[in-house]
Amino acid sequence: MISQDFLKTIATERNLSKSELEVLSLAMEGHGTAAIASHLQISGDAVRKRLSEVYQKFKIPGRGPVKLTKLQQILVNRYQEYLQQQKDTPNRPPVSESPPTSPQPQNRRDWGEAPDVSVFYGRGDELKTLERWIIQEHCRLVALLGMSGIGKTALSVKLAKQLQDNFEVVLWRSLRQAPSVSDLLAALIPDLSPQPETVIPKTPDQRISWLIDYFRQHRCLVILDGVESILQSGKLAGIYREGYEEYGDFFRRLGEEPHQSCVLITSQEKLNEISLLEGETSPVRSFKLEGLGDAARLILKEKGLSGEKKWHPLIQGYRGNPFMLKLVATTIKEVFDGDVTDFLSTTLFTHDISDFIEEVLDRLSELEERVLVYLAHQKEAISFKALQQHFSDTSPQEVIRALGSLSQRSLVEKSEGRFILPPAVREVTLQLMTPLED
Ligand SMILES: Nc1ncnc2c1ncn2[C@@H]1O[C@H](COP(=O)(O)OP(=O)(O)OP(=O)(O)O)[C@@H](O)[C@H]1O
Ligand SMILES: [Mg+2]
Repeated sequence: MISQDFLKTIATERNLSKSELEVLSLAMEGHGTAAIASHLQISGDAVRKRLSEVYQKFKIPGRGPVKLTKLQQILVNRYQEYLQQQKDTPNRPPVSESPPTSPQPQNRRDWGEAPDVSVFYGRGDELKTLERWIIQEHCRLVALLGMSGIGKTALSVKLAKQLQDNFEVVLWRSLRQAPSVSDLLAALIPDLSPQPETVIPKTPDQRISWLIDYFRQHRCLVILDGVESILQSGKLAGIYREGYEEYGDFFRRLGEEPHQSCVLITSQEKLNEISLLEGETSPVRSFKLEGLGDAARLILKEKGLSGEKKWHPLIQGYRGNPFMLKLVATTIKEVFDGDVTDFLSTTLFTHDISDFIEEVLDRLSELEERVLVYLAHQKEAISFKALQQHFSDTSPQEVIRALGSLSQRSLVEKSEGRFILPPAVREVTLQLMTPLED
């Protein structure tokens, strides 16, 4: 929370009047126009006018809620610098935190079904970036995306454990059972506010409003893991299952409306709301999680494998996917006495891996499947033009969408403008799917 002392300093610097400072400090606490108007007993128009003066004095152009987001970002960045200066020159008077506007909940942590992450390798850069987004840049909605098994769930737990001291409430929830938005919120509301007087509002819309209001008053971190459970299979990536469309509104409002909390979601597929709202300076971001890289060696070491010279091609073959590497390491241990060299001289794939990738392929749309089969039959990476020529019965826009969707699922890779399948995906596609069409 930004301190009043700091806001007063910046108000003097920018020549803000007392009434503008009042509105600014309430807006920075996450209150909307109506709440500010009622708190100060002035009209909504008067609030907007004072805020517009503030934007001008900060030289923030543009329209609508984006301006408030930009202002928040400027102030948060300046506040970080201010705190750093305070640290570097300790004889300055200490920064006093602003008084809370409503009673603070006791620090609460509820890890639900979060897995144990005591064995966790690498991901230093990823943790740093996500920490910057959530703590320094105050992102409100962050999507951690990537293929099944790549480590989204594990990273979400590690990150939340690392950041927990910055939040009053931390809740980790799995969406594996695919609850409706209404049910999810009916369960979350008493978890956030366990007082007996808490009343769960009736409609989904009111429940979302309750949550956002709570998020304005209290800094919370809520992790929703496995959002792909509410998305359709057999369609392009990111389309809600029937009956789950209200999630669209939920995620859009979490990203658009000002509050001081963060919802981190993990998903194999990107949601349309995220694509629409995300940006480098937006409070909505997505992070595509790639393989573990060199840290994957530690998984092979932990499994007691040998033949270290061949570890790199093995890791590369599975694109550093920790789940696939764990699967294959078990087979190598059992069948090849742990020797990676022996295993690689025979094959790169096992039945377990086929089953695992088959589950991922089961979610594809018909066109995605056709594109995948075609790419699997190519020995080298091919250009979009060549692909388009092959699919001349389909519009280029549809082929582009199918390719985008496949790459979001990490099933297609792009290299120098050409498309190719990762080796494991290629192999399994050739084994499982229908032959190449003419
Ligand atoms: N950094 C890591 N260090 C060690 N093990 C890891 C790491 N990341 C993931 N794992 C292990 O790999 C396996 C898969 O990870 P995880 O469940 O997090 O993947 P996921 O991306 O959430 O997959 P899905 O989309 O199927 O839910 C787990 O057994 C997990 O413990
Ligand atoms: Mg997961």
